[in-house]
Amino acid sequence: MGKKLDEMFPSEIVASLDKYVIGQAEAKKMIAIAIRNRSRRKLLSEELRDEVSPKNILMIGPTGVGKTEIARRIAKLANAPFIKVEATKYTEVGYVGRDVESMVKDLMASAINMVSAEMAKLKENEVNKAVEERLLDLLLPTVKKDVSEGSVVQSSDVSTREQFRDMLRRGVFDDKMVEMTVANTGRVEIGVMGGGTSMDDIQEAMSNIGSLFQKPRKRRLTVRRAREVLTEEETAKAVDRDKVVEEARVRTEQMGIIFIDEIDKIAGGNSQSRGEVSREGVQRDILPIVEGTKVSTKWGVVDTTNILFIASGAFSVSKPSDLIPELQGRFPIRVELSALSSDDFYRILTEPENALTKQYAALLATENVTLDFTDDGLRRVAQIAYQVNSDTDNIGARRLHTVMEKLVEEVSFRAEDFAGQTVTIDAPYVDERLSEIAQSQDLSRFIL
Ligand SMILES: Nc1ncnc2c1ncn2[C@@H]1O[C@H](COP(=O)(O)OP(=O)(O)OP(=O)(O)O)[C@@H](O)[C@H]1O
Ligand SMILES: [Mg+2]
Repeated sequence: MGKKLDEMFPSEIVASLDKYVIGQAEAKKMIAIAIRNRSRRKLLSEELRDEVSPKNILMIGPTGVGKTEIARRIAKLANAPFIKVEATKYTEVGYVGRDVESMVKDLMASAINMVSAEMAKLKENEVNKAVEERLLDLLLPTVKKDVSEGSVVQSSDVSTREQFRDMLRRGVFDDKMVEMTVANTGRVEIGVMGGGTSMDDIQEAMSNIGSLFQKPRKRRLTVRRAREVLTEEETAKAVDRDKVVEEARVRTEQMGIIFIDEIDKIAGGNSQSRGEVSREGVQRDILPIVEGTKVSTKWGVVDTTNILFIASGAFSVSKPSDLIPELQGRFPIRVELSALSSDDFYRILTEPENALTKQYAALLATENVTLDFTDDGLRRVAQIAYQVNSDTDNIGARRLHTVMEKLVEEVSFRAEDFAGQTVTIDAPYVDERLSEIAQSQDLSRFIL
């Protein structure tokens, strides 16, 4: 894993997106610039920094052309706190009470996880050492350093311990059972929650109360499991919780990115069904968060002014102008993703590191079947997918999934009969499997 997101030049961000997402150059570029500007902003003088606010992005494009995929890939690269939420979840029945502020809480939670992991990594050696000593204590319970009687640990004991240490490192004891006291790790933070009163907070508090009554108790565990438990305990001791929270808060506020997917679904009309929260209501709730407000989380107050928001939607029914004007204005950068051509489909089938053809080949390789996709075969698949999209509904690259699934169905089902063989998927093979279905609109509507 080379550079992390906040060290990458925009061109590098685009290059690493290119490994997974075909085309959509404009969208990749705009996002890369917006992300780079976060890092640049961090280097400004404090005065100037306060003046520079992030330029939120609205991605618009038909279904299945890579909007969510771009977000997913950014998330993998990000060492900045990043979360993706679906706007629709705030309108769902039963979600009244799950306020939109939860997106900020979730972002902060992801930052806490990220920073805890980093700090734990720094203390890794120290922790491993302590864990090893404690495991040896468990394995050699009789050797006590009895200071009160002034007796020194005998040299034979020391050498036994060293022998055991060596064996422990070699994993000899991994399955041996030891008895240990497992501390009560449930943290109860009801009193210190930052004024949060949403259902989520209350539920979490309730579940923590349960752990109040759990006394530390003796348990028999394998050494392997005991090592995990002790590592957790020692890590908690070694890592300074306050530092984690402080660093996480700074990162959330300065570098955090919230991706709001399906924003078109909360645009336009008051056509909500009964019990649903009104869409416009959700937009009004989101507004202050995008604009900049203070959200209280159980780790303290988080200011959202400098969080970068990327919203995305197909806008097939509604239009960006159906969003309330105030919200439209908070997403000044618009990028359009284009519909995919048959040529794009061909590239999507072959180029990405996780390309479908590679996935199917790897799956069947586990049963010793070699799938050989020829170039003309893949071109045919791409053409058929494109044609079915034009004849029925255009579902973008998702069509490739249905087409490919149908294509390899036979081999997949009877893999044992093909073991040791190479199945060549060329144009005639594709035609034989698919052309009948693809040519009939009625058939493809149901099958592909
Ligand atoms: N440009 C692309 N390059 C590579 N794969 C793509 C591309 N576009 C779509 N795909 C594939 O198609 C599937 C659907 O894409 P994605 O989830 O990004 O759609 P979307 O644009 O978010 O659509 P929707 O508006 O319906 O949410 C993904 O599995 C993805 O791998
Ligand atoms: Mg999507």
